[in-house]
Order: sequence, then structure tokens, then C-alpha cells
Amino acid sequence: MKGIILAGGTGSRLHPVTRGVSKHLLTIYDKPLIYYPISTLMLAGIREILVICTPEHSQAYQSLLGEGSQWGIDISYAVQADPNGLAEAFLIGRDFIDGQPCALALGDNIFYGAGLSGQLQELAQPRHGAAVLAYQVKDPERFGIVELDNEGRPLSLQEKPISPRSNWAIPGLYFYDANVVDIAGQVKPSDRGELEITSVNEAYFRLGQLYVTRLQRGTTWLDAGTFDSMLEASHFVQTVEKRQGLKVACLEEVAWRKGYISSDDVQKLAEAFNNEYRNYLVSLLESTPSAL
Ligand code: G1P
Repeated sequence: MKGIILAGGTGSRLHPVTRGVSKHLLTIYDKPLIYYPISTLMLAGIREILVICTPEHSQAYQSLLGEGSQWGIDISYAVQADPNGLAEAFLIGRDFIDGQPCALALGDNIFYGAGLSGQLQELAQPRHGAAVLAYQVKDPERFGIVELDNEGRPLSLQEKPISPRSNWAIPGLYFYDANVVDIAGQVKPSDRGELEITSVNEAYFRLGQLYVTRLQRGTTWLDAGTFDSMLEASHFVQTVEKRQGLKVACLEEVAWRKGYISSDDVQKLAEAFNNEYRNYLVSLLESTPSAL
């Protein structure tokens, strides 16, 4: 399965900061925000990733992430010139997707929790249709929502409803079969003029091919799109990292534990740093790679 990370948008909620820097390059505690969705896709076992960003920031992403070979993955780039909506990712990424199944991760979504890695690998298995997540939230009107029956099957979908039919938000991590490009091509712009990802999910739902996996309450899902939510996410990562001495979304570590890069590679990558990140990478080599 291939993976797209959408890191576009004007970031207007974060002006003036995002007048100079792309939102997904801003810091969440000790890493750029985009590291988190990259780690999510890597944990799912996805190694071919397309980063879609705005034209003015493309060079900065390429400087930061390169071609991905340092982490044993393949990163390519495309641009979204205008904020036309999340579903446009599949039209921009048509050549990259090349008739394969494809996941979409929103660049500002952070996932953390026990058992998540196995759940992500399961979701990335080829299947007919679409697989989305559901996560219980207090403020469903801010998100795409799914109403579920007692067996956890979807009954209806809503995008940022004034009167939500459930508290189950659909996080920004979606897994689709190869039909997603055609389905996205048929989506009409919403009232706010965007190609909504919820319209893509509704199309799969109408076909009876939308599968929903509920994330357990022990899993953390954060979206870092405002000053407050970025600060909260930073504090969350800081708390976990300081308590355990283990980093969240350290891409060198994920690559090493997945077997994508060797201990020698980690040692070399560590030497390029001159701070606590270096010490962390060196300390990893004293542990067992398979303990993810
Ligand atoms: C988008 C989607 C929404 C989803 C959310 C997850 O909203 O439209 O369905 O629940 O991402 O973060 P946005 O954050 O772009 O407003």
C-alpha cells in the first residue's frame, strides 16, 4: 500500500506564524509536526510516501525529509496549489498511486497508544473498499462524524455537523482500495467549495464498502491545528518522553525497529546530531530492535 501525507492548506488559524513557515514544519515538542504522520505510515508498514504541500514550502520539506532513504523509505513530493480540499490529494497523487491501494494521513494528526502499531498494519492490508477509524470525542461538531450501529457498522456520515448524530469522530487517517482515484474524481465541491474526504467516504458507504475500526480509549489521537492544540500536543509528547525515556515518532528508531535500516545506519545518523537526539539514537543501539 502507498501513502499520501497532505501538508497543504494556508494555515490561516496560525497566522502570523504560518506566513513564513508551513504549519507541518512547526515544532511538536522535539520534532517537526510532519514527523508524526510519517511515523504513523511507517508503523503501518507503508514505505512509499508522497508528501503534498503548498508550492512555496516544497523546498523546505525536501530539505528536511530528502528522499527518505535515510529511514529506508521512499519519499516523493507534489504540490497543492490551492486549498481545494482533502480529496484532491488523490487527483494530485494519481500517478504516484498508479492503480495501487493508498492511505491518506493528514499532516497534523498525531496517534499514540499501545497496540496501535498492530492495528495500523492490519488496516494497511489490501481489502476491497475503504477503512476509516472512529474515536470518541467531546466536541464532534469540529470533525467528520460517523454514526454507528451496535455492531460498529456505519449508519451515516456527517462533516462538521451543527447537530452531530454521534460522538465518533473520523480521524485524519484513511485506507482505500485502488478505486479511490476514480471516486475522488466524481466528488463535487461542498458548500465551502472543497472536495471533502467525507464525500469520498460517503461514496464507499453507499457501495457498502466502508469499514470502521473504533480506536480504544487508551489510544491518543490529537490534531494540531491551532496554537492551543499544538501546545497541548507538545506537552503530551513531552510528558510521555520524559516519563519513559522513549521518543514518540522518532523516525530513525521506527526505521531501525522495523528493520528498514541497520544499527550501523543509526550510528551514522546519530553522528550528524550534536544534542540529546544523538544521545537517544546511540542509546537505542543498546536495546533490542524488535521491541517496538
Ligand atoms: C478534516 C476532515 C474531518 C476530519 C479531520 C481530522 O478536518 O475534514 O472530516 O475529522 O480533518 O483531523 P479539518 O481538520 O481539515 O478541518
